[in-house]
Amino acid sequence: MKIGFAGDHAGFLLAAPIKDFLERRDIEMVNYGTFGPDSVDYPDFAHRLGEAIDKGEVEIAIAACGTGNGMAMCLNKHAAVRAGVAWNREIAKLCKEHNDANVLVLSQRFVSVEENLACVREWLDAEFVGGRHARRVAKIPYVPQK
Ligand code: RB5
Repeated sequence: MKIGFAGDHAGFLLAAPIKDFLERRDIEMVNYGTFGPDSVDYPDFAHRLGEAIDKGEVEIAIAACGTGNGMAMCLNKHAAVRAGVAWNREIAKLCKEHNDANVLVLSQRFVSVEENLACVREWLDAEFVGGRHARRVAKIPYVPQK
């Protein structure tokens, strides 16, 4: 399995610890940037990652920015993406169990590296519970009503 990663200048520092964490599980991480502290626009990197998921280059992904919100807003415009923001491990677990999130979006500015890694672990290890949650997830794509 390959996991994609993308972050802006306020998220890219999480790439290295997450890559290490995934390597210990024999999971390859593909980094779509950004790669340094120069100020960039988060949509450029979120859409790069979203396209990679749409094309099947990576199965699932992790994204990071200052809060997580900007990356999630962009990623959720992609057909194959269901991105959830998690600021703690409990929410990370629930965004897989209840929302079947295939992209975990993290906050580098407001959450410690330790908690962010715990978020990654809980999200990876959790399983979608299905049932009533499957019905709700199926209703997420917007279908205009008459
Ligand atoms: C960048 O300053 C910041 O706005 C961005 O990383 C993110 O938090 C936006 O949602």
